[in-house]
Amino acid sequence: MNDTNIQDIPKIHTEIIRKSEEIGFTMPSDLYVGSFLKTLIASKPNGRFLEIGTGIGLSLSWMIEGMDAESKLISVDNDQELISIATSYFGGDDRVEVICKDGADWIKNYTGLKFDLIFADAWPGKYSEIDGVLDLVKVGGFYIIDDMTKQPNWPDGHEDNVVELTAYLEQREDLQLTKMNWSTGLIMAVKK
Ligand SMILES: C[S@@+](CC[C@H](N)C(=O)[O-])C[C@H]1O[C@@H](n2cnc3c(N)ncnc32)[C@H](O)[C@@H]1O
Repeated sequence: MNDTNIQDIPKIHTEIIRKSEEIGFTMPSDLYVGSFLKTLIASKPNGRFLEIGTGIGLSLSWMIEGMDAESKLISVDNDQELISIATSYFGGDDRVEVICKDGADWIKNYTGLKFDLIFADAWPGKYSEIDGVLDLVKVGGFYIIDDMTKQPNWPDGHEDNVVELTAYLEQREDLQLTKMNWSTGLIMAVKK
């Protein structure tokens, strides 16, 4: 199997990579996790989806392409410049709400419906507010994180955070986990 032969790359992908380079945004998600998110989202027609850590919308572009016409998605980032760019790409899609807010504050204050899939791609929702974010996953819903195997841009000591988070997820009896040493290291959890 050639797993590099990824199909269905969003048309806007080239533009988002170009813009990321222009503004020096070095954290966009890779093709593998993008494809994975799109596939999982396609399993949830009329679904509700959440991303914490929009960036300028690379993973968001994949998530949107997995959604059907009835689905809704919220994506949150605390950087106004990044959110403005993401809004310029996706603001016209009325299924999508892009919010500029601290992710921890957003998780603590959100009172709406739970989600079929949460992609937690910022500190909040992964290394803080973990119980809060997991409370927002529906039974049968997915909680997805990446960057769980050592990356060149990890700050000193970040391995300890990753080990602690992984151990925490492993001991939660309400989660079914699969850890994948693929892409940047993914954990997929399903809420039981
Ligand atoms: C790994 S990048 C996200 C990449 C994005 N998912 C993509 O595919 O391009 C992490 C993002 O989290 C955002 N972020 C950092 N701290 C945050 C916070 N406290 N609340 C919300 N977003 C935060 C950063 O601005 C950054 O865009």
